[in-house]
Amino acid sequence: MFIKAIRLDGVPHDGYPFSLPAVRALAGGGDLRLPTPVTLLAGDNGSGKSTLIEAIAVAAGFNPEGGSTSFNFATRASESSLGGHLTLVRPPGRRPRTGFFLRAESYYNVATEIERLGDSLLASYGGVSPHQRSHGESFLDLATHRFGPGGLYLLDEPEAALSVHGCLALLLRIADLVAAGSQFIIATHSPVLLASPGATILEITPDGPIQRVDFDQAQPVALTRAFLADPARFLDRLLADEH
Ligand SMILES: Nc1ncnc2c1ncn2[C@@H]1O[C@H](COP(=O)(O)OP(=O)(O)O)[C@@H](O)[C@H]1O
Ligand SMILES: [Mg+2]
Repeated sequence: MFIKAIRLDGVPHDGYPFSLPAVRALAGGGDLRLPTPVTLLAGDNGSGKSTLIEAIAVAAGFNPEGGSTSFNFATRASESSLGGHLTLVRPPGRRPRTGFFLRAESYYNVATEIERLGDSLLASYGGVSPHQRSHGESFLDLATHRFGPGGLYLLDEPEAALSVHGCLALLLRIADLVAAGSQFIIATHSPVLLASPGATILEITPDGPIQRVDFDQAQPVALTRAFLADPARFLDRLLADEH
């Protein structure tokens, strides 16, 4: 474990990102503990998951647009100032050997940077330019070849590129890397990834507070389960509510 907790002491101003209910709740809530090697951050669209993951990445020394700690390109600076205000609580003397910040939204730019840096770097990503792989294949290449033991990995909605089968492959890779001393913090809507063994699920509630929930309580799991139990009936009810 490289990050045991996250803390935000106060908010410097009222604008974004400090206007977000989740950020306000974090500021007033003491340490947000990350007790297990895998932390899964759930919450509806717009609840602040990307803002939070990106801020943790910036505080941990990653490029805000994604990549490893040695990437420092910027296509379009859009990161919030939250990273500069977060405190990462780290166990003394434990530093990750490696790491990666994966943002589904901007992996295209990271792929361009990997190409630009040349063949010797490309080898550690599986040897094929991510631009010559499908979006999902390039994510799995990254997890298979570039991720390694003793690393810190921050992933923002990795399922955006992945089939259900691909999510299961990623889940297995995560389990292997955790057994080899890695830590993951993952924003996700995927019920498959939310099932990562031994993970802590933190869900951003509509009012802002970030709550620890069980797998069965997590909204993507409960909603998907209710839908799959009887899709036609579920949709009938939704449509009836709309009219
Ligand atoms: N650069 C920005 N400036 C202003 N507001 C932003 C910016 N980025 C995101 N937001 C707002 O912050 C909220 C949370 O965004 P985000 O963290 O991307 O949510 P999530 O990843 O949970 O879907 C959204 O309502 C979004 O409109
Ligand atoms: Mg997001």
